[in-house]
Amino acid sequence: MLELQGIGKSFPGVRALHDISVTFQQGEVHALLGENGAGKSTLIKIISGFYQPDHGTVHLDGLPLNLRNFTDGLKHGIAVVNQEIQIVPDVSVAENIMLERLDHYRTPLGLRWKALNQDAARLMALVGLELKPEDRAGGLSAAQKQLTQIAKALAVNAKVLLLDEPTSSITLHEAEKLFTIVRGLRDQGVTVIFVSHKIEEIFALCDKVTVIRDGLMIGTVETKNIKTNDLVAMMIGREYAVKQLGTLAIGEETVLEVNNAYSAGKIHDANFHLKQGEILGFYGLVGAGRTQLARILIGEDPAGTADITIRGKKVKIRSVAEAVYQHRLAYITENRKEEGLILDFSVGTNMAVTIWERFRHSVLRVIDDKRIRQINLKSVEEMSIKTPSLEQLVKNLSGGNQQKVSIAKWLNADCDILIIDEPTVGVDVGAKAQIHDLIWKLASEQGKSIILISSDMPELITLARRILVFRDQRIVGEITGLNEGELSQTEISRQIGQYLA
Ligand SMILES: Nc1ncnc2c1ncn2[C@@H]1O[C@H](COP(=O)(O)OP(=O)(O)OP(=O)(O)O)[C@@H](O)[C@H]1O
Ligand SMILES: [Mg+2]
Repeated sequence: MLELQGIGKSFPGVRALHDISVTFQQGEVHALLGENGAGKSTLIKIISGFYQPDHGTVHLDGLPLNLRNFTDGLKHGIAVVNQEIQIVPDVSVAENIMLERLDHYRTPLGLRWKALNQDAARLMALVGLELKPEDRAGGLSAAQKQLTQIAKALAVNAKVLLLDEPTSSITLHEAEKLFTIVRGLRDQGVTVIFVSHKIEEIFALCDKVTVIRDGLMIGTVETKNIKTNDLVAMMIGREYAVKQLGTLAIGEETVLEVNNAYSAGKIHDANFHLKQGEILGFYGLVGAGRTQLARILIGEDPAGTADITIRGKKVKIRSVAEAVYQHRLAYITENRKEEGLILDFSVGTNMAVTIWERFRHSVLRVIDDKRIRQINLKSVEEMSIKTPSLEQLVKNLSGGNQQKVSIAKWLNADCDILIIDEPTVGVDVGAKAQIHDLIWKLASEQGKSIILISSDMPELITLARRILVFRDQRIVGEITGLNEGELSQTEISRQIGQYLA
């Protein structure tokens, strides 16, 4: 049993946790729920020894725990999958998984590679990671990195397993595997603490849920005794209603046409078009080729080829800069932490990098700082980015708020064709609705043409007016009739399921 008493933690200018007291029983899966910036990751980091609390105590099986660091935590049987993906890129997948256990494989003659790779392969199979243990970790997709982290936590025989948004980059299909493993561990008496913004997951997996809001403890309830709406209300402190979006006025003009997109092993023979003002969904399991196709379009895949026509003109796109500045085509990456943000720079700087050129005086070449500041403040407000100021460093924001900064940055870029890859991964339900609203307005009010890559089926059904289904690096189906409201949600899900079967 793990007991927290009166835990508090502050950072310069931010009180992350006030006074958290909660008990996690042995053999239970216990969710932590709260909005972006509520303090969940901070709490996870205190339990695992990354941070020390300013006040309060932690007891494990009745004994006080005073962890000095995370290795200390591991020694006490506390394993963690952090929200930030922590992978050593230059070594193999197997070494990443066994990083904390390398001593176990060390002999005077060097590492027992065969045993290490075999043990790693077993864990990889368990989590559904279809790679070779020897593969270099740096080349993995976000989902594969996440599965690697999960396998790494499982490599330690933990008493307490902390999972901070373990499913943010993987699809339901892969998450199911994780849930089966977690249930097995629970039945063996492991305490599992699970952070997720996906409410369905919390209901499917967790016995109890503790809600925190602005660093304060709101309460603990059993999932079988509460309904989704009440849980969300507990979390955001008010009633929550889902907004219905209407019909899009899609233009006649084809703004983007892509034929014969190809990149060996990544995407094959993809053909599609996008109309002005349309929201086109790309659905598929992780690795189905959606992001790969986007990368060809923005000139990020040197081996990829495609016949691309933008507003009737054949174009060759060789770099992201060409895509953005010459063709007004932007790709908002799913891999925001690694590609989308400069973590050591401020919120304001990160949001402005795409607009500097626009607000540079044509003769004097000075940047209109005041105007940029206004735009940034508006973005912070519109997207409810939780930050003490524009000067805060991005690395100090909570995960969900970092996502919002990255999206704000690209929306500021003022491109007409936007490819938005998994926009709401890691954001809380309230913010998710706001981002949906924003994307909808971009199309409906500003006439932008949008490709929405999402593994979140409800999200696609809400926003997309046509859906292309990807499987095994190919486009295998198209679902139309969404804008006319002809298909029910069940019917859409059924059709998608058929294409994927
Ligand atoms: N190292 C740090 N320096 C300054 N502030 C920090 C630091 N780490 C976290 N914070 C702040 O503490 C608060 C709680 O952050 P935390 O990461 O715990 O939130 P969270 O509940 O995990 O949110 P999310 O759902 O977005 O991941 C936020 O306001 C965040 O900006
Ligand atoms: Mg977090």
